[in-house]
Amino acid sequence: MRKMTICLAGLAVAASALTGAALFGTALAQGGNQGSAGGKAAASKIIDIDPKTLPPHNGKILPNDPLPYWAFAIATHPWPPQDPNEKRTLKGSKKTFTTAQVNDRWNVPDWFPESHPKMPTIVEHGRKPEVSACAFCHLPNGQGKPENHSVAGMSANYIVQQVKDMREGTRKSSTNRMGSINSMLKIARHSNDAEVRIAADYFAKIKYKKWIRVVETDTVPKTDIDRRNMLIVVPGPREPIGKRIIETPEDEHAIDSRGSMIGFVAYVPKGAIARGKKLVESGAGGLPCAACHGPDFKGNGDIPPLAGRSPSQMTRQLYDVKTGARNGPGAIMMKPQVERMTAEQRIDIVAYLSSLNP
Ligand code: HEC
Ligand code: HEC
Repeated sequence: MRKMTICLAGLAVAASALTGAALFGTALAQGGNQGSAGGKAAASKIIDIDPKTLPPHNGKILPNDPLPYWAFAIATHPWPPQDPNEKRTLKGSKKTFTTAQVNDRWNVPDWFPESHPKMPTIVEHGRKPEVSACAFCHLPNGQGKPENHSVAGMSANYIVQQVKDMREGTRKSSTNRMGSINSMLKIARHSNDAEVRIAADYFAKIKYKKWIRVVETDTVPKTDIDRRNMLIVVPGPREPIGKRIIETPEDEHAIDSRGSMIGFVAYVPKGAIARGKKLVESGAGGLPCAACHGPDFKGNGDIPPLAGRSPSQMTRQLYDVKTGARNGPGAIMMKPQVERMTAEQRIDIVAYLSSLNP
């Protein structure tokens, strides 16, 4: 992680200057949920899952900044089992897989083999009994989904380091209730650097493509959280967006079948993109984000790219750094950037970043 170390040293001064600035911000931070960034949106009703309906999670409770359940999506009821013999097809692919094959974590369904390089064994088949195939969740082209993470186009060193942080316990989640994340943490614990490096080299070479459509709106379709920690549209009247981002598949069948070509729509509050642009350019109480993530937020050495990535994924990361659940060596640089970031600011910031071209 050579480049990252250089950046760390260069920013040490700025970071300590920020600690001073942090005192300034206290009054603002105490605004908490009613923070200034939301404007009109701050007045709208919060419609999130009532945490009282869920078992307790292992995160710290942040004053004025409760766990955003729309990003840490946890199903609130069981789902009926799927028919393992159902035959599935996808638009644009000549292949057919059964539901059982689609859900085989040791043989990832590859609908579009021509759209990515040949997957190494660890990516396509994993290593039994604990290290499931990376592409099972991150998809053969590394695009990832809201409930996991995009890994395409990230530096190989960064990928190896993150999995190492998870293995060593310095990167956790603010909740222990999200199944997809628990699976990743378990995989990391049982993995080794050598096999992760092979996967990392593979994903690092693939270009991340834009596949999230960001739409500003006051109202959103009614959604529920499915068996895989993902928000899906269900019948019912539209509801106010409140202080949330609702990220849901454009084609639920394709995503449920682990298709990797048709992505997501992310509904964000009105005005979020413009407010987010300002915050990102000035820094939300910390440094301008481009100082480390690169001028177009396309990453910088081993510092990860943000442009066009999933708002749900980014929200979890910003929240996890703030609670201390994500606390690896790289996260230290992020801490001063999120310390005083309010829930509304976070929504605006990720709305803007995910609207950009990767
Ligand atoms: C069962 C699903 C699943 C499988 C299989 C899986 N992951 Fe993950 N992975 C996740 C989830 C969920 C996250 C997001 C964690 C979070 O939000 O905190 C994640 C996050 C990551 C991240 C962090 C990305 C970032 O930018 O923060 C890396 C790197 C990663 N996975 C690598 C791998 C590798 C390498 C493999 C194969 C050895 C793998 N994953 C297999 C579910 C999975
Ligand atoms: C001082 C340098 C620095 C600044 C400034 C900075 N970041 Fe970061 N950021 C990092 C580093 C380093 C990481 C990787 C953290 C790790 O290794 O765990 C990171 C990680 C992230 C992640 C998680 C990405 C992923 O794939 O998991 C997000 C989201 C993020 N930063 C957003 C922002 C935003 C938004 C801003 C501005 C408000 C910002 N960062 C400012 C250095 C910085």
